Amino acid sequence: MIFTVAIDGPAASGKGTIARAVARRFGFAHLDTGLLYRAVGVKTLAAGRGVIDPAQAERIARSLSERDLTREDLRSARAGNAASRVAAIPGVRAALMDFQRRFARREGGAVLDGRDIGTVVCPEAEVKLFVTADDAVRARRRHAELAAAGSTQSEAEVLAELRQRDARDAARAVAPLRRAADAVLIDTTELSIDAAVTRAVAEIERRLEQKTGR
Ligand code: DC
Repeated sequence: MIFTVAIDGPAASGKGTIARAVARRFGFAHLDTGLLYRAVGVKTLAAGRGVIDPAQAERIARSLSERDLTREDLRSARAGNAASRVAAIPGVRAALMDFQRRFARREGGAVLDGRDIGTVVCPEAEVKLFVTADDAVRARRRHAELAAAGSTQSEAEVLAELRQRDARDAARAVAPLRRAADAVLIDTTELSIDAAVTRAVAEIERRLEQKTGR
């Protein structure tokens, strides 16, 4: 069976947590597409000694390997910012497209989370969710995650970076962050993880029943 769940939303909205939970629940494969951009971002920074060169970023995106996705430094704020910058380069997005599309339409079901899955990568996805939350709440969550990993950034700094990243992701010319017209909105500002997952599961079950006629 081919069945794609597309989950989009801004940074620290809870989309990754929901994606992992529903993938486990339904036995679907999961791809965190942000990791692709993070890996391209850190490799491009390293190659350019801190400077991002678009042609180099595109070359790196074309030759990205599975191993690059297991680097330990991909979750840092630096990697997130580099990711958002290389993600605005059209050649980088094009280079990563095929892999994501094949992953989405693999046999057995797939969950992909990112910014443009329901709008560009997989507009034919069976289920589209758009997960969001107030920016102060998202900054608090991201700050706690980064602090647990040893970061000394203040919550105000995290909030400022998050707003800058959201603005860049939403304003870029190619595949900007936006909700697909047919995406179900899940606002996690005042929703527990369990409640958000329950909502996502209900939506997927409804579509699975339609598709399989059960
Ligand atoms: O979800 P994340 O924080 O790991 O994503 C890092 C950056 O990568 C994000 O700021 C924008 C970019 N990105 C994107 O442009 N398209 C995606 N499908 C996923 C991430």
